Amino acid sequence: MRSIAGRQRLSTARDVLAVFTGLATASSRRIGVFCECRYKSTGSAFPGKVKLGDKTYQKDSWFNVPDSIATSIDRQLHTTNDHPISITRSIVESKFPAPAFKHYHDFFPVVSTHENFDSLGFPADHPGRSKTDTYYVNETTVLRTHTSAHELEIFQAKESDGYTISADVYRRDAIDKTHYPIFHQMEGARLWDREKVAHGDIAKAVWEDVERLPKHHMIVEDPNPPTHPERNPLQAGHAPEEAAAIATHLKRSLELMVVEIFSRAKAAAMATNPNYHDEPLKVRWVEAYFPWTSPSWELEIYWQDQWLEVLGSGVVQQELLQKAGVPSKLGWAFGLGLERIAMLLFEIPDIRLFWSQDPRFLSQFTGVSDDLDTLKRFIPFSKYPACYKDVAFWLPPASSSTTSAAGGLAPPQAFHENDIMEIVRNIGGDNVEDVQLTDEFTHPVSGRRSLCYRINYRSLERTLTNEEANRFHERVRGELVKKMAVELR
Ligand code: DAH
Repeated sequence: MRSIAGRQRLSTARDVLAVFTGLATASSRRIGVFCECRYKSTGSAFPGKVKLGDKTYQKDSWFNVPDSIATSIDRQLHTTNDHPISITRSIVESKFPAPAFKHYHDFFPVVSTHENFDSLGFPADHPGRSKTDTYYVNETTVLRTHTSAHELEIFQAKESDGYTISADVYRRDAIDKTHYPIFHQMEGARLWDREKVAHGDIAKAVWEDVERLPKHHMIVEDPNPPTHPERNPLQAGHAPEEAAAIATHLKRSLELMVVEIFSRAKAAAMATNPNYHDEPLKVRWVEAYFPWTSPSWELEIYWQDQWLEVLGSGVVQQELLQKAGVPSKLGWAFGLGLERIAMLLFEIPDIRLFWSQDPRFLSQFTGVSDDLDTLKRFIPFSKYPACYKDVAFWLPPASSSTTSAAGGLAPPQAFHENDIMEIVRNIGGDNVEDVQLTDEFTHPVSGRRSLCYRINYRSLERTLTNEEANRFHERVRGELVKKMAVELR
């Protein structure tokens, strides 16, 4: 899906949301598998220490966190009053009320590879672990790539039956209007204890809780059975009625959250345009796979003529609950991307805006955290001119291929597009709107690959001069040669 060979732009809804929810790890992160990344970060050279937030870490040869990322860790948009990410978080939280749900916002983003991957059952060769996709502090320490990294410890802490956690997450990724190397996720879970419910009857207790949830009138397509032996298996140790009851509670709870978001989006649209007319809201449940849930689903919303994936979810693997020391509990978990939801809710057209300090952006949300009913749609302030520059180059012979002769995994030193993105991002920062592969071919005799990328230099806040764009571009060309050993054409 996001491979270099036959790369497609982020054209499908699935692509867009894959990145936000991180579902990309399951389906679209193929090309980077086992790549030995040639790219060296701009952070100070290993060995030595690095300061992230108020903590200091030992670096090693895995270190690849650029300064721009390291210095953004303190921003905490998800808890900044009147920031659209924080407002969106509050709306989601409102549908998971106390005392059943406790809300966490303060987990530090530096976690172990055990927390981020192993504890959740990610296989050792999972592409999400690659240095090309993930920011490593050292071999066993990463910037979390998803909020699920904290599931185990929250289950262990046993502070409530359910919880939500909102937090910043980090991924090396493409550059375009819907991708940013830091984004925000919200995770939620709800457990029931066999030893606490009447007669140990989990299914009955969960169904009673389902009855207590409000009803809604949204159109929901859910054609598949709660479990399926091959596609979405029931866990050993779970009765079919238990999985069915938990699935229903999960789905109804998340549907209510979607109804809330979209009724607020509609009210905001009507506040600016009283003649606003919308289509009835429609969602569908799609079978999915996550290493730490079974059965699992994604929720998709029909929005502007396409299905958008908004979250991943499922019945928590009993093994995870055993590891957490709560083997008698069962329940569900979900994770969603807050930027995706906020972009729909406020009609924010470019993900870089969330990082803007421009009062023309921030002032549009003043007072909303205190009174969510004053939420309005974002009104774009200006569109500054685009400045396109191309860079074409030959890849060095060693990295010209991305698949082995057997058609399997990439050999060491294979090319990875995320390394280019990282170079452009470190030089142009938020002055780059988009980077696209526009041409690619393999020389019939030498077998070398040539690539051409088009970079759109455009600030959200002012007009960039051609000279400024040229200066960025010259540096990008220089770094491509220095760090990726390409030959410019
Ligand atoms: N962590 C997943 C991601 O980033 C999202 C997710 C899926 C979270 C399923 C969950 C879950 O808790 O049960 O793609």
